[in-house]
Amino acid sequence: MELTGAVAVVTAGGGGLGAHLVHALAREGCHVVVADRDADAAARVAEEVRDGGGRATDVRCDVLVDDDLRALVDLTRGLGGVDLLVANAGGWGGASEQYPGAEVGDWSAVLDLNLRAPMLLLQLCLPSMRARGTGAVVTVASSAGVEAGAYGSPPYAAAKAGLVRITTSLADLGAEGVRVTTVVPGWIGLDRAHREWDALPEDERAGLPALVPPSLVAAEVVALARDGAGGRVVTLLDGERREVLHP
Ligand SMILES: NC(=O)c1ccc[n+]([C@@H]2O[C@H](COP(=O)([O-])OP(=O)(O)OC[C@H]3O[C@@H](n4cnc5c(N)ncnc54)[C@H](O)[C@@H]3O)[C@@H](O)[C@H]2O)c1
Repeated sequence: MELTGAVAVVTAGGGGLGAHLVHALAREGCHVVVADRDADAAARVAEEVRDGGGRATDVRCDVLVDDDLRALVDLTRGLGGVDLLVANAGGWGGASEQYPGAEVGDWSAVLDLNLRAPMLLLQLCLPSMRARGTGAVVTVASSAGVEAGAYGSPPYAAAKAGLVRITTSLADLGAEGVRVTTVVPGWIGLDRAHREWDALPEDERAGLPALVPPSLVAAEVVALARDGAGGRVVTLLDGERREVLHP
């Protein structure tokens, strides 16, 4: 896909990894739609892009609200339709009570954020991508979804594993020009992570893989958007890049 002039939606683009993805795609010449539930954060990042000479539009969008997702897709119609969807919004919030101890509403919200929302947004973007015979979707999964050990948030791990499998399940869309791919990062070196990392005892730190630079994740998202084959899953774990599970 030619990224210059492409309309790229980044969910949770107002902060964290999403802001890095927005800037990386804007540098490639995309018109980036910065979608975030925090309207001020989305506006700030879009303004940074425009100040740097790039193109960006901000929109308040909570990916947990179906009508917000529909409004987001409607807005992009005015820009010519979504060429690239980066389903980045996700997380588990670090709640102390986790499944199976947590209330159903709490753990199902984690499934909704990390799996249902990207699935629904992809579904909403698909008709126009199919009609034009071109489109790319890059989802952001996590090492939590591909590792086999115990994990602090089981619904988060399950949802991210589901995201990987959704990607591979949809590989056939590639025949219609729509490529669905996913990137699977380990712990990303965002500001918050660096603070947590620095607070760890040295022996604990020594046993952990290095933080994944956000620029590396952004470069992978750009590469997958440009020409990643449908169904491709790329892991950025333990200092290594691997392509797994693609047809
Ligand atoms: N941080 C990591 O180390 C790490 C590692 C692996 C994978 N990931 C994945 O990367 C993605 C981004 O992670 P992050 O750490 O940048 O997240 P984050 O929590 O730091 O993201 C912050 C942004 O998300 C927005 N946001 C939160 N909930 C939203 C919602 N419901 N709708 C729209 N916007 C919302 C916030 O307003 C904020 O701008 C997630 O899918 C996460 O699971 C993160």
